[in-house]
Amino acid sequence: MCMNEILKPVPLQTPVTGKKVFIKTYGCQMNEYDSERMGDVLAADGYVQTQTMADADLVVLNTCHIREKAVEKVYSALGRIRVASNERAKAGLTTQVAVTGCVAQAEGKQILARAPVVDVVAGPQSYHRLGEYLARARDGDRVIATEFEIEEKYASLPAPSPRQTRARGVAAFLTVQEGCDKFCSFCVVPYTRGAEVSRSSAQILAEAQRLADAGVREITLLGQNVNAWHGKGNHGSPMRLGELLGEISQINGIDRLRYTTSHPIDMDDGLISAHGDLPKLMPYLHLPVQSGSDRILKAMNRRHGRQYYFELVDKVRQTCPSIALSGDFIVGFPGETEEDLEATADLIRKVGYAQSFSFKYSQRPGTPGADLPDQLPDGEKVRRLETLQTLLSAQHAAFNETMIDRQMTILLERPGRQASQLIGRSPYLQPVIVDASAGEIGDIVEVRITESGPLSLKAVKTGQV
Ligand code: 5AD
Ligand code: SF4
Repeated sequence: MCMNEILKPVPLQTPVTGKKVFIKTYGCQMNEYDSERMGDVLAADGYVQTQTMADADLVVLNTCHIREKAVEKVYSALGRIRVASNERAKAGLTTQVAVTGCVAQAEGKQILARAPVVDVVAGPQSYHRLGEYLARARDGDRVIATEFEIEEKYASLPAPSPRQTRARGVAAFLTVQEGCDKFCSFCVVPYTRGAEVSRSSAQILAEAQRLADAGVREITLLGQNVNAWHGKGNHGSPMRLGELLGEISQINGIDRLRYTTSHPIDMDDGLISAHGDLPKLMPYLHLPVQSGSDRILKAMNRRHGRQYYFELVDKVRQTCPSIALSGDFIVGFPGETEEDLEATADLIRKVGYAQSFSFKYSQRPGTPGADLPDQLPDGEKVRRLETLQTLLSAQHAAFNETMIDRQMTILLERPGRQASQLIGRSPYLQPVIVDASAGEIGDIVEVRITESGPLSLKAVKTGQV
């Protein structure tokens, strides 16, 4: 699909050296991954990153469009950037501004029309050419590039140096597929990120090896619909995510694997067995159900009912009894009744979630849900969200409580708030605070959990892995 409008042929690039870029990321982990890769593209052009907008010769807003107010948030950020840019202009400094990500894709030229400060608008599949677009903008163009050409992007993204990779941390994201063909009736993703496209297994394995070589110990495979990933094995045989995880787990140095976000209907048997067969695959599964009401699931076009979800969860738990589940929920979908909400609460009570994300339904222009009758007033959505969140928060806290006195391994990821502490990550994604004497960042250490809070755990070291 081509939604592009590139205004002029590509001129030769003007090299940039010693310039600073400020990248602001909104939204999901896939955007975080994209921002890192944009950092790589810009580093190849001589940019170094800064955390201060006033210092930045280039400001990139990597945007998210999933829920309401996303667009307004971008325009108000652009207002602040205009002020910063005017201040810099008084000191004789120029500032370039690029808007990337899903709002860029969805809004396109409206951004250029509404925000004169913007030089470049580039969608999620076009950021590999950011350097070239910025060069054109320096020559007086305003560039808009919103093509869906995922293959070209990955083929041309520069690899960061091992030092840069390691500086980003010992746990890394790796995008394996983008886009979605599911067309849930509330969701903009199929429109902003386009149709489902999987990266090749060879490309993914090469990137995983590069991460391992740089000292990364944990990889989270990312995709809007990650378990829809499909590729080919060595002899051209079809390959699914379970097998891909198996291959990555053979890479020395990579000790922990995760994947997100999965759709229930793509949880095939191979992927479920991987949870029993692969010791490196962490016992944690993010499996959004959105609603527990069959009527609403149908209206959402989720393609399965609540019974299917229960059976799936049972199957996963039989294969990996220690697995912890996480979910996404939407309240206040058009036409949702008290009974539907109670069906969701009932599903939550039956499944039991270690972690979750819950949202008020947000009417997204262009999606089928936006045109449905019986949209609910905001106050009612707020009330329903509170009902579910009270239930879910109690489940999260109860899950964290069950950790006390448990022995487990944690990957030490970053310094704590106090210099005497380090923060690691449990197999269930909980932050775990330990004494800094427990080891170095990048170590996987054996600990016993001593305290649990709603958001984190405390532990003492009991051994080295
Ligand atoms: N309104 C509210 N929540 C939404 N999500 C996606 N689209 C919408 C919307 N229009 C939520 C879903 C999804 C998560 C990433 O965001 O729960 O799983
Ligand atoms: Fe959106 Fe549904 Fe696709 Fe998830 S599966 S990205 S909610 S359309």
